Amino acid sequence: MPEPLEIQFMPLSAAPEGTVVLLAGQDMALAGTARGLDERMKGALSKAARAADFTGKPKTAIEMLAPPGIDSSRLVLVGAGRGAKEIDRLLLGGFAYAQASARKGEAASLIAEVPDPGEASPEAFAVDLAMGALLRSYAFKKYRTRKPSENGAEDEPRQELRKLVIHCAKADAAARAFAARKAVAEGVFLARDLVNEPANILGPVEFAERMRDLARAGLEVEVLDEDQLAALKMGALLAVGQGSERPSRVVVLQWHGAKSKRAKTLCFVGKGVCFDTGGISMKPAAGMEDMKGDMGGAACVAGLMLALAARKAAVNAVGLMGLTENMPSGKAQRPGDIVTSMSGQTIEVLNTDAEGRLVLADVLWYAQERFKPRFIIDLATLTGAIIVALGKEYAGLFCNDDRLAAEITAAGESTGEKVWRMPLGKAYDKLIDSKTADMKNIGGRHAGAITGAQFVQRFVKDTPWAHIDVAGTAMDSNRSDINQSWGSGWGVRLLDRLVADNYEKAEK
Ligand code: BES
Ligand code: MN
Ligand code: ZN
Repeated sequence: MPEPLEIQFMPLSAAPEGTVVLLAGQDMALAGTARGLDERMKGALSKAARAADFTGKPKTAIEMLAPPGIDSSRLVLVGAGRGAKEIDRLLLGGFAYAQASARKGEAASLIAEVPDPGEASPEAFAVDLAMGALLRSYAFKKYRTRKPSENGAEDEPRQELRKLVIHCAKADAAARAFAARKAVAEGVFLARDLVNEPANILGPVEFAERMRDLARAGLEVEVLDEDQLAALKMGALLAVGQGSERPSRVVVLQWHGAKSKRAKTLCFVGKGVCFDTGGISMKPAAGMEDMKGDMGGAACVAGLMLALAARKAAVNAVGLMGLTENMPSGKAQRPGDIVTSMSGQTIEVLNTDAEGRLVLADVLWYAQERFKPRFIIDLATLTGAIIVALGKEYAGLFCNDDRLAAEITAAGESTGEKVWRMPLGKAYDKLIDSKTADMKNIGGRHAGAITGAQFVQRFVKDTPWAHIDVAGTAMDSNRSDINQSWGSGWGVRLLDRLVADNYEKAEK
């Protein structure tokens, strides 16, 4: 495992080390930014900036060598914009990290005070920058035994920044606040690692084994094997996995952090199809490799649970993952098969590629029976149709409870992991009625993401429930200043924020 980026906070008076990254507000408002730095340097900076047509616009940067007034051979001036919203500050931190990384030099100092920090205190601003830089620093390089240049790649391999010092007045307070954010970043990195891992290495059994490691973070870990799943009558989930040589698993992660004994459990469920060939209703070859990421929902749940444990969140939460593999074989389920789910409801499997909903059906039912949760949220790379509807900008949110939907939407706005609420209703639900069983597993050509969600809802009792279709966001999502990885870890920060903002304070 590569060493993660080391981040320190120091007061502005401490001498900057390494490459210095200085944030400049719009129109080169360096006054506040460069406080503590030499006047002569500010003059020289403004002059150089003018000469390079640098105005401090966001996502622009210039480099100065041997800058006067500071003990550093390199200075990078980064346009800061306003940083008014948390997501802007994260992206700015990521961009500044990338700028510092692109230049030579081991360590970098980030002078973080900007003219207009928006609603944030200078410390909160610094912590957001740090989080952005940390998220950006992730790369999945486990299987690269050579540098890209040795494979004939043109671009010089980048020297990556391993240490970042962020200068702000109340450095101790910032460092304390950052500890909790770092825990969340760890969760994001776990989710990214799991999604990036190829399916030959990460099958259901291996995924479950990795979950056992989370006991070290203070989580209670249970792994249910196929005998146990059969005893629980999880006929839908087992039907999906029956074509694979590799057995299915269900993992239950519990975090007990609530102060009150009466606190109800928050429940998170993830679709963990370690590879989705489509089964007998097989997918076309082009792009099928992406289906190693069909466990993105489960990866998000794993990352979230790690984050909650690592920052010792004051809640009781449980994360469940339905881990399986959808393969064609002589043992695979066939179109037309009728399976009985744990709930007792029967399902006519008209298309074996609509497998995620079968997995969710049983795990959701089990979660409600066992934990009687305050709410249940499932995450799943469930449908290509959600990508048709929303692209990769928003995940699709389906919810039976307006308050929960509003909380999730708000958490998405602040973290930048945005969700868009989609409709549910009787007319859509009718589309999955079956003539021979209680339901069929596909609707028709219309409203594919919605009929998928309707199917899942048939396994929800009267618990507040949300289903988030992350097919467009969990994998191969838009790269950004805080994510350069194929597996994005989407949703870990969103759900962590949902919990922190709404469920850790006094009982509501
Ligand atoms: N895992 C896929 C959905 C998916 C597609 C995720 C593209 C990420 C990118 C899911 O199991 C699936 O195959 N869904 C089918 C459902 C259909 C058969 C009703 C789909 O979307 O085509
Ligand atoms: Mn499928
Ligand atoms: Zn799938």
